[in-house]
Amino acid sequence: MKFIDLRSDTVTKPSDEMRKMMYEAEVGDDVYKEDPTVNKLEEYVAERFGKEAALFVPSGTMGNQICLNVHTNPGDEVICDKESHIFWYESGSPAALSGIQLAVLDGKNGVITPEQVEPMIRPESAYYMPRTKLIEVENTHNRAGGIIHPIENIADLRTLADKHGLKLHLDGARIWNAHIETGISLAEYGKYFESASVCLSKGLGAPVGSVIVGSKEFVTEAFRVRKGWGGGMRQVGVMAAAGIYALRHNLSKLKDDHRNAKTLAEALANMKNVEIDIDTVQTNIIMFKPVGISVEDVLAKTREAGVLLSVGAVGVIRIVTHIDISKNDIQETINILSKILD
Ligand SMILES: Cc1ncc(COP(=O)(O)O)c(C=O)c1O
Repeated sequence: MKFIDLRSDTVTKPSDEMRKMMYEAEVGDDVYKEDPTVNKLEEYVAERFGKEAALFVPSGTMGNQICLNVHTNPGDEVICDKESHIFWYESGSPAALSGIQLAVLDGKNGVITPEQVEPMIRPESAYYMPRTKLIEVENTHNRAGGIIHPIENIADLRTLADKHGLKLHLDGARIWNAHIETGISLAEYGKYFESASVCLSKGLGAPVGSVIVGSKEFVTEAFRVRKGWGGGMRQVGVMAAAGIYALRHNLSKLKDDHRNAKTLAEALANMKNVEIDIDTVQTNIIMFKPVGISVEDVLAKTREAGVLLSVGAVGVIRIVTHIDISKNDIQETINILSKILD
């Protein structure tokens, strides 16, 4: 059975054209920095974000965790939203790999404000407290349903960080979606952060890989940590080629994913047994609560009908649109969901 797979934008398969570019990629030993395709990808991504340097890493988790590690020392603290990916879904790595703790704030739809952050910054004189080093922002925000972090708030967080000598890190796994939806350039987003980790294997449709961007000095350190954590890869230009293809050909297609998500969300909003905040559907993620039927039952019934959905939080279903989902798939999904929820 061929499923309409809406569990995540990580389920995409490389297209024939992407595979062709991977097949033809020029490669070398990337641990020696001799892979021309990786070098090209890193230069390109650094330039798009207005940064001096970039580093190809196997995953978004490794990208985030290397950045946290480089910015901190054991015993330090990172401030982030309570629904952030680094808090929920990175296997406790801030503590396990870097010996740091996360101070999580109750952001609204994933957005933490300077007014919330400032009281959480530990005074320099308080030797008995952890040291605050970093503020982390996730854009778009996964558990908040793909919402776009307002650029004005990011600018205000930057001002606050400067006031207290803190660094800012962007979990930009889906920054591409924010960029495409708002028209704000990647360089504009990049300028507020010391570091960002951006994913090629979500909506962009590459099979693997993320990229860290930052200053030359930062990326030199990140390169060292990547090797130490076993993330040094050899002839990995075959993978970087997929990333280059994705950036060239798939970035602008994210707009279709957003349109599909909107169509589906509007249909859900009209179904009797659905609770949904349509304002949060800004990019390619939809979160909704089924009413009078459990999440598990909805997932089982949709699976039976050929549609795969996932759990967003307790009592919440998550739907993610992506490059392998067509307009027809969306229509079929609406038909199936309306039989279950209307
Ligand atoms: C916001 C966010 N950050 C980071 C990651 C981690 O990416 P990876 O699965 O490549 O480790 C994800 C993955 O879904 C994500 O949604």
